[in-house]
Amino acid sequence: TDAGMEQLHSLIRDVADWPKPGIVFKDITPLLADPRGLALAVEMMANPFRGQGIELVVGAESRGFIFGTAIAQALSAGFVPIRKPNKLPRETHQLTYDLEYGQDTLEIHADAIAKGQRVLMVDDLLATGGTMKACCDLIDRLGGEIAGVTVLIELDFLKGRQKLKPYDSVHAVLTY
Ligand code: PRP
Ligand code: MG
Repeated sequence: TDAGMEQLHSLIRDVADWPKPGIVFKDITPLLADPRGLALAVEMMANPFRGQGIELVVGAESRGFIFGTAIAQALSAGFVPIRKPNKLPRETHQLTYDLEYGQDTLEIHADAIAKGQRVLMVDDLLATGGTMKACCDLIDRLGGEIAGVTVLIELDFLKGRQKLKPYDSVHAVLTY
């Protein structure tokens, strides 16, 4: 709802020049600390995917864990973490992707997803889309079926959605 979006907007704080000069950081910690804001965010991220047969929710360390587990519970699904390197104990699949400056690597357990399982991808923020694209590619590699992507915030001007073209259902609660 518009009132819901308004409430969420009011709980997100703009922090200028962080982590670098010229960047306006969207700080979601006030939203997380607000009982109604947190519940509303989870509900609005999960709602379009109710009744879609989602079996697993996947979220990337760290902020993807916050919303990912909550959304998994809301959809009566399980949760699978994608982690930063050398955190998972068993056999993993790894993917290195480009950032604005430099590179990053993410890992998932090789047996985390069975072929054909219906998966919902979750993160707090879609910026350049590099993180989400890497996560989706990892799920692809394991044979999971990506039913959709849901984020709290999309930074439209960074065109992250274009990177996710092969995965059609991309839902953002708030767009800047
Ligand atoms: C942030 C955010 C997203 C990602 C979005 O994570 O939580 O995962 O950046 O940016 P992108 O679309 O340009 O890839 P970050 O890597 O800062 O780590 P964190 O979740 O551990 O805070
Ligand atoms: Mg993140």
